Amino acid sequence: MKYLFLLLLISSVAIHASENWVLKEGCPPSFELRDGQCFLVNRYQFYDSLQNRGVGGTQTGLPEFRDGFSPQQIDLGRYLFFDPLLSKDGSLSCASCHQPELGFADGRPRSIGMDGQVVKRAAPSLWNVGFLKKLFWDARASTLEEQAVGPLFAADEMANTPQKLMADLVANPLYPELFKQAYPGQATPLSLENVLHALAAFQTSLVSLNSPYDRYALGHHAALSDEEIAGMNVYRSFVARCSECHTPPLFTNQQIAVIGTPEPEGVPLDIGAEETFHAAKLKGGFKVPTLRNIVKTAPYMHSGRFDSLRDAVEFYTKGRGHAVPAGVEMQIHWHIWEPKLTDQEIDDIVTFLGALTDESLIPETPDKVPSGLSPLTGFQPTLNQQQAEHTDE
Ligand code: HEC
Ligand code: HEC
Repeated sequence: MKYLFLLLLISSVAIHASENWVLKEGCPPSFELRDGQCFLVNRYQFYDSLQNRGVGGTQTGLPEFRDGFSPQQIDLGRYLFFDPLLSKDGSLSCASCHQPELGFADGRPRSIGMDGQVVKRAAPSLWNVGFLKKLFWDARASTLEEQAVGPLFAADEMANTPQKLMADLVANPLYPELFKQAYPGQATPLSLENVLHALAAFQTSLVSLNSPYDRYALGHHAALSDEEIAGMNVYRSFVARCSECHTPPLFTNQQIAVIGTPEPEGVPLDIGAEETFHAAKLKGGFKVPTLRNIVKTAPYMHSGRFDSLRDAVEFYTKGRGHAVPAGVEMQIHWHIWEPKLTDQEIDDIVTFLGALTDESLIPETPDKVPSGLSPLTGFQPTLNQQQAEHTDE
């Protein structure tokens, strides 16, 4: 049994290696190829930046975007993103916790990493990360490259080491050649630096800017229903103040705000950005998350405390600081107060948030990845586990 399985494994790797894998030569849709690099094209580029318009208006521009990757780098990043080879034992890929069909989140209150360990926070969506200046709920990373080092090498996430990761990639029958295609002319195309760079390249292709809201904002009045427009008006009113922080068109102003959301029962207070910036006034502060594709990414908040979008919205009407544990000094943001929204207004906001959905540029999940492992988009048993089960027999 054992030998049969090994044989199967070896032959599948051999078939794999004999194939000629060529990375894509074209940019993802919405990107334009110029001098071998992909640049984002979108209609917001015709509008002024935020500074000139104030918050909440429809005709505001987007913040600066990280583009300029080659098509091959983006495609290589796609394989890496879906390949469980990047984890210690082949059991987890980036996509295990950032599943395309769940808004690139994982549907869990808090993610589950290596050997079933519960990670401290919920997995955020990755849509539009190419616009973000700070990453992680507590803003502790400034680039996508810096960010990826976190999950790759954290013991409770993918639990790998740089040495093992590089050894696995070098020994793989396909990756050395794919890195050459993506980084031609470099002395060492297969480097940790390029792994991080390619992952960043792929993630910047996750652009969502064509929701019904966008079509409305760009001039097609009929793109939103009356209820959605009613919700939008509450959303950006001075009473609700949502757009002060979740500012269109990105639906985040990228700042840190202390709003005092509750932790799940029995979970100690997460001090958030206080730790990043060593500043007590940021205790319980988190990066304002985007609300794009928000209907896909329940449960909500850093802790996944709210199961439904309605519960997350209702939090804001329950009174400033209502969920802050007794005895904790928290400096709640001035835009968090007691708007006393009616049930109807809460429903309307929720309806409006549904109009922020656009997954038209969702990338293809590869049928197979260079390791030959199943490109994980869930927690199916991995090849390694299956193998272990078989050898036990
Ligand atoms: C075990 C689950 C898990 C895996 C595997 C995982 N992530 Fe995450 N990811 C998370 C969680 C949880 C957070 C939020 C952590 C925090 O803020 O402290 C996160 C945050 C992020 C962010 C920040 C997004 C933002 O808006 O700030 C990016 C980008 C990201 N992950 C990319 C990746 C990449 C690339 C990989 C693979 C190398 C990966 N993740 C693997 C769970 C995971
Ligand atoms: C002062 C800034 C601020 C204002 C005003 C604000 N929010 Fe938030 N919002 C945040 C922050 C910060 C978080 C993350 C908090 C956490 O995880 O504990 C958040 C989280 C959310 C989430 C969950 C997102 C996710 O991915 O889990 C939703 C939904 C949301 N806000 C909707 C709203 C609505 C609707 C309003 C208006 C009624 C509003 N917010 C007003 C700062 C703000």
